[in-house]
Amino acid sequence: MQTVHDVPALRAAIRGWHAQGQTVGLVPTMGNLHAGHFSLIKLARTRADRVVASVFVNPTQFGPSEDFERYPRTLGQDQAGLAEQGCDLLFAPEVATMYPYGAQHSVSLHVPQITDTLEGAHRPGHFDGVATVVCKLFNLVQPDLAVFGQKDFQQLKVIERMVRDLSLPVKVMAAPTQRAEDGLALSSRNQYLSDEERALAPQIHAVLAQMRELIGKGHAWRVVEQAALSKLERAGFEPDYAAIRRAADLSEPAEGERDGLVGLIAARLGKTRLIDNLLFD
Ligand code: PAF
Repeated sequence: MQTVHDVPALRAAIRGWHAQGQTVGLVPTMGNLHAGHFSLIKLARTRADRVVASVFVNPTQFGPSEDFERYPRTLGQDQAGLAEQGCDLLFAPEVATMYPYGAQHSVSLHVPQITDTLEGAHRPGHFDGVATVVCKLFNLVQPDLAVFGQKDFQQLKVIERMVRDLSLPVKVMAAPTQRAEDGLALSSRNQYLSDEERALAPQIHAVLAQMRELIGKGHAWRVVEQAALSKLERAGFEPDYAAIRRAADLSEPAEGERDGLVGLIAARLGKTRLIDNLLFD
């Protein structure tokens, strides 16, 4: 596997593949890769001739009080893992490469409506940073397809919407959430958890499963949301939200609507903020 840090080297590799008529799949990441990321690489490998992964801890998607500085940076380990998974090329740019005018002065993309709620409401500006960096990566790599994890469900929907609205020639593919045996969704942030917090963390998935069950039994979605929030608080979490939304666009369901719903939770456990979701179909 080749690792490149600058744009000319990246473009040269991609040009060579395109000239041979090969398709390119992109897996954008912030590094500190785990089995969840590797499942995205595996999916890309089944759908594209060549797979490019990017590792870039994107400053514009972190709020001022968030974990940008302490976000784990493990490039050597990531390189070894990607090579083992059969990734063809790793793009690991510096901030100045992605933001030539500086991250503060960059062109910024805003995807309206779908970013007003949930993560967007609790992390102002987060999705502007995500949309901006993903659009830049699409322009740099010019992939035929790009794979994103369903774990970041709202992010996936924001990117789908951006691609459609800007007519970007990229097929967005979703890969299912990978979980530990006890149900906890794999995430780079899980390593911040103490042993005690790690033991509590699978409750998020358990509460999502209970939400799905209650909706299946015909309970009103607002009542189910309230019950989920109380359960999380009793278990020791500080929830930002426990929400039931239409999976298609994250809008609120109508009274009695049952099909095509998703449950989404964001909750803090000590200093760590965890998110997860579950499709109810
Ligand atoms: O999901 C992530 O790791 C990031 O939000 C992404 C898509 C790589 C953009 O920085």
